[in-house]
Amino acid sequence: MAQTAFEPRILGFLCNWCCYTAADSAGVARYQYPPNLRVIRVMCTGRIDPLFIIDGFLNGADGVFIGGCHLGECHYISGNYEAQFVVTFAHKILEEIGLNPQRLRLEWASAAEGAYFVKVITEFTAWLKTVGSPGESEKLDKEELKLKLKAATMALENTKLRMAFAKEAAKLKERRESGETIELTISEGLKKTIKSEISFYLSSLYLQKGPHSVSELASKLNLPESEVEKYISLLSKRGLITLKQESPTPVYIGKNLESK
Ligand code: FES
Repeated sequence: MAQTAFEPRILGFLCNWCCYTAADSAGVARYQYPPNLRVIRVMCTGRIDPLFIIDGFLNGADGVFIGGCHLGECHYISGNYEAQFVVTFAHKILEEIGLNPQRLRLEWASAAEGAYFVKVITEFTAWLKTVGSPGESEKLDKEELKLKLKAATMALENTKLRMAFAKEAAKLKERRESGETIELTISEGLKKTIKSEISFYLSSLYLQKGPHSVSELASKLNLPESEVEKYISLLSKRGLITLKQESPTPVYIGKNLESK
């Protein structure tokens, strides 16, 4: 039986004032482009939360596209600058879980740039066809990838990572508004928080799936046992795991973290 060609599902967040209108004008001008984009219209790219992006991948997107107004043309002044940092941050999260960050693309297109919008979507769709669904070209096990994406969404729903992100975003905004030219990078501190928060929630998900010792978790997470011991202690303090077996090696098992 002939195999059907892979058609990537692209989740698109388009700003109402520019990129959405560019898409609209492309339609009115009858430009042809691949029908792979599913659009969510937002008032401004500044409305996009990193959680929307990771949740999109968790729910089956092969790529996420964000389209907004050109820098300096945002109707809410700085929303697109904020979106730039959200994308830089989300790229780092994707990298941390092993997904190609290019699966998340940010572009600017004004209302008059329908042809440019078509070009970008056509290119992005073609590129996604070459890399396949998430995990395929990255050589990741699908179930494992799902757990990692789930752990990342849990991290993004919780205070520690959100606070660290918000603090860094606020600092960048302040520097930009004072006229400084800023480079969009993620600080070492924020990188560390991304890694530790995702690993913490991933530990809990592994433990929900089955019993593990510290060394088994450490080897799955590729972390030193001392780090995993900290997660175990925290999970146990929160009443999220129990000791299933004490000797010869302690083995832990998780309760349902989501119901807490
Ligand atoms: S209004 Fe378009 S990016 Fe802010």
